[in-house]
Amino acid sequence: MNVLVTGGAGYIGSHVVAVLHAAGHHPVVLDNFSHSRPEVVQKLERLTGAKIPLVQADVRDDQAVLTALKIHEVEAVIHLAGLKVVGESFTDPLEYYEVNVHGTAVLARALEAAGVFHLVFSSSAAVYGKSDTLPVNESQRLDPAHPYGRSKWHAEQILADLAASDERWHLVGLRYFNPVGCHPSVLIGEAPSEIASNLMPAVARVAAGWQSEVEVFGQDYPTVDGTGVRDFIHVMDLAQGHLTALDYLVQHSGWDVFNLGTGRGVSVLELIAAFEQACGHSLAYRIASRRPGDIAASFADVTKAHQILGWVARHDLADQCASAWAWQQALSAAPS
Ligand SMILES: NC(=O)c1ccc[n+]([C@@H]2O[C@H](COP(=O)([O-])OP(=O)(O)OC[C@H]3O[C@@H](n4cnc5c(N)ncnc54)[C@H](O)[C@@H]3O)[C@@H](O)[C@H]2O)c1
Repeated sequence: MNVLVTGGAGYIGSHVVAVLHAAGHHPVVLDNFSHSRPEVVQKLERLTGAKIPLVQADVRDDQAVLTALKIHEVEAVIHLAGLKVVGESFTDPLEYYEVNVHGTAVLARALEAAGVFHLVFSSSAAVYGKSDTLPVNESQRLDPAHPYGRSKWHAEQILADLAASDERWHLVGLRYFNPVGCHPSVLIGEAPSEIASNLMPAVARVAAGWQSEVEVFGQDYPTVDGTGVRDFIHVMDLAQGHLTALDYLVQHSGWDVFNLGTGRGVSVLELIAAFEQACGHSLAYRIASRRPGDIAASFADVTKAHQILGWVARHDLADQCASAWAWQQALSAAPS
């Protein structure tokens, strides 16, 4: 299929493009490069050995999107273009609603005009917020703890309403847990400018000597060791999940959501210990106070994705740390 990948130059999008190409699809990247660089697309071309068509546009630019859909004869869209930094969403909520919610509505309108009714939407485990029960399953009450999570929730609601209004729509939302690691080629990964607030890259920076210690936000949570517990998922597993969702979409109309995680909760201290194994030396950390919007624990019930999509994450924590360390070493070796 010809698949438009919005946000295709970003961290997850670039891996989705690589996996789509490897599966025989024809990905087209649409990105405004607000949080990525055009070089990523060149790297994707090196990696795939194929020309990857690129549309530099904002997803809120309906005419540009419509033109891209027509010119590239797009049959399905994977919509990853969005903003994702929780802290920033508290200080600039409007920007988050404009890009993540309005952007999704504009895209959907353009799809309708072009007669393209197949869409995979990049949602987040952040839609759950503080969960009543763990692991978190898809039918759980949604109660996002911050504007970012609420923006994803609203975008999901738009898509659910759309599917209910017209049976031509085939829509799937993927609720990602915490993506980490990079492509096995180590050519693409998470951009260093984008990683400040995520744990794994922060740990990798300490391992590389870029930072003196890992800040651990809170050690008084009701968890195994008092630190936050999350479900880390290798970005290649996540990218693979999009392929299976695309296969599913072709067969199924309506709207549905799936968790993409490993199903295993890992504490911050457990992750640091696993990374020490990967990099071969100990890592300094310091306990800091909790951050606004953080919750104690979140990990996925992945039964639905397994049973309906036939998808399961294959990479364990050791693989994830090895991959994140390989990427950090590549960044360290790159000329600044
Ligand atoms: N990384 C995570 O931890 C995580 C977790 C859950 C969900 N998500 C969601 O997955 C998606 C991709 O995340 P990522 O980690 O790859 O982030 P990223 O910032 O690396 O990628 C997002 C891409 O979208 C582009 N973009 C942003 N606004 C745009 C706009 N208005 N028009 C066109 N392009 C635009 C950026 O330039 C970037 O290339 C996001 O929607 C994010 O909310 C990410």
